[in-house]
Amino acid sequence: MLFKQLCEPISSTYTYLLGCEETGEAILIDPVLPTWQRDLAVIAELGLRLVYTLDTHIHADHITAAITLKRESGSRIAHPAIDALPCTDEPVREGVPLAVGGIQIDPLFTPGHTDGHHAYRVGDRVLTGDALLIDGCGRTDFQNGDAPTLYRSVRETLFSLPDETLVYPAHDYEGRRVSSIGQEKARNPRLGGDRSLAAFVALMNELDLAYPTFIDYAVPGNRECGVCPADVPEDLQRYCRQMGDSRQG
Ligand SMILES: [Fe+2]
Repeated sequence: MLFKQLCEPISSTYTYLLGCEETGEAILIDPVLPTWQRDLAVIAELGLRLVYTLDTHIHADHITAAITLKRESGSRIAHPAIDALPCTDEPVREGVPLAVGGIQIDPLFTPGHTDGHHAYRVGDRVLTGDALLIDGCGRTDFQNGDAPTLYRSVRETLFSLPDETLVYPAHDYEGRRVSSIGQEKARNPRLGGDRSLAAFVALMNELDLAYPTFIDYAVPGNRECGVCPADVPEDLQRYCRQMGDSRQG
């Protein structure tokens, strides 16, 4: 399997490219609108063909490139069935692997950051979306988020994977790229060690985070699989504009 971690710097999102070397089929997980051309260029350079895009959840901080990539490359839009987006071509759910050539992607239902969030296990790697970040986790105060639900998703579902499983998050704001289940179990300051459910809920309630800058545009746009709303103000247009062929990783 070819595996590449691509960075979208506006929202500090990691997009993952997985490619099957035998069939040439590829998937992008959490592709971001400003970097869709860069991602397609990387796919072409590797001699691959994009057959699917897949999102971990309905994002609030960026617009997915799913529908743009479908238009430009003919890829099909895979998305968690529970979100019931009419633009989904291939609904995914826990227990039903998605095949991309010889690659098997196992969806893991991990709600709490949003109510429809899924992580994706691929062999000895897990793409954790915003459920589990390196030394952190996604917020739980929007999109039907729920701290006790996130606690259970991480501690019961993700932490039950083997310790050596590599953790690839959807974001890192400090440029870190990879962790492991063992490392997060041991030292994640929010969810690791002997952190109790009550202590986690109290911590999440006390975060007092700012209102998300782009959420009022991102959520409706992503419910259409990545249409930039017409009323995005000028100071937020960077989330919708094409960045050009910037190869940052
Ligand atoms: Fe998110």
